[in-house]
Amino acid sequence: MADVLSKFRPDEVVEQKTFQKKLKVGIIGTGWIAESHAESYLKMDDVEIVALADLIPGKAEKFAARYGIKGARFYPDHKSMLEQETLDAVSVCTYNTTHCECTVDALQAGVHVLLEKPMTVTLEEAIAICRAEKASGKIVDIGFQPRYEVNFQMIRNIVQSGALGKIYYIQTGGGRRRGIPGSTFIEKKTGGIGALGDIGCYALDAVLHALDYPKPLTVTGYTSGYFGASTEYYPESDASRFNVDDFAAAFIRLEGDIICDFRISWAMHMDTTGDSLILGTKGGLRIPSTECWNGYGLDRPLIYYHDVGGSQVETEIPLKDSNAGTIFYEKVRAFVDAVQTGGPSPISTAKILYNQAILDGIAKSAQLGHEVEIVIPEI
Ligand SMILES: NC(=O)c1ccc[n+]([C@@H]2O[C@H](COP(=O)([O-])OP(=O)(O)OC[C@H]3O[C@@H](n4cnc5c(N)ncnc54)[C@H](O)[C@@H]3O)[C@@H](O)[C@H]2O)c1
Repeated sequence: MADVLSKFRPDEVVEQKTFQKKLKVGIIGTGWIAESHAESYLKMDDVEIVALADLIPGKAEKFAARYGIKGARFYPDHKSMLEQETLDAVSVCTYNTTHCECTVDALQAGVHVLLEKPMTVTLEEAIAICRAEKASGKIVDIGFQPRYEVNFQMIRNIVQSGALGKIYYIQTGGGRRRGIPGSTFIEKKTGGIGALGDIGCYALDAVLHALDYPKPLTVTGYTSGYFGASTEYYPESDASRFNVDDFAAAFIRLEGDIICDFRISWAMHMDTTGDSLILGTKGGLRIPSTECWNGYGLDRPLIYYHDVGGSQVETEIPLKDSNAGTIFYEKVRAFVDAVQTGGPSPISTAKILYNQAILDGIAKSAQLGHEVEIVIPEI
């Protein structure tokens, strides 16, 4: 897992922009993903990491030493950091169950937020963030780095070109035969949800962003956790803690007479749950299945199915050289640019709220055992 994810380290800087103002940035949560945030900020001349917070005593200090972050102050939690520092922005790199609290507190302290994915665990938390963002006048940018990968961007380019006509069916998902991340991802008290929140949010974003996020209306969801909790597949130390989903499936009705068939897996007795498909009245798009969806790129080209002169034709969309090595940097730089220019959030809560509503709908429907209506109040 770490081998796969470490491929995303910002190993080369694509473009170095510098603004006059040097932003004072704090990092909340100094675990695994915070590394890519710190490495990215450290490459920027117009940013200074001035504070780090972590609940685990000494963790933030060790993190700063590892990355050569000089002169920063350390805090035992996000609240004390926000109370004592005057910051322009924070990266919220905590586990999922504290995303909402940290983000809302930062916004109320007048600080812009780059929030790691998934946005939250529940829809109610996501709504609380949207309301706090609106009240604060600050921005929240959600850290979906696959948005910056050139081949993933082609999915949206093709849909937006109109080449598929009116879209009526989406199949998305995928995942791994074996690949439960462990750590804080596998417990309700920290992860909240499992594969659903970890990689399910990406699989949904890849296709829903392409369609400009049609509003979700109803969800029939299913979740299970047979593998994570089994010592047949996982060490006792992980299996005894595991209490989230390692597989999820759903049938989602979207505004505009669109149906989305979704499944995601951290573990199963299958190599793939199939390619992702987008069907429209003029064409169809096949997106090769991917284990992770986190921006690693595609190992096979997208294929566009359409008719030409009465013949059924398949057009391979040539794979571009992937920029996967820089997408974590690009995600952080896009946030910094937005803060510096007063621009809109690169990946806005207004759209990702729908992503979260679907994850929440799947979890709630799975628990209730029947379809649920998705109700999103005015923000
Ligand atoms: N974008 C990506 O590709 C990617 C990859 C991995 C993880 N993530 C996301 O990043 C988040 C963190 O994942 P991770 O693997 O780094 O987790 P982690 O458990 O390694 O680190 C999280 C840290 O946050 C700290 N923390 C929690 N609440 C806090 C609070 N209120 N104040 C200060 N510190 C607090 C914890 O003590 C912990 O050290 C998750 O939401 C995960 O989904 C994103």
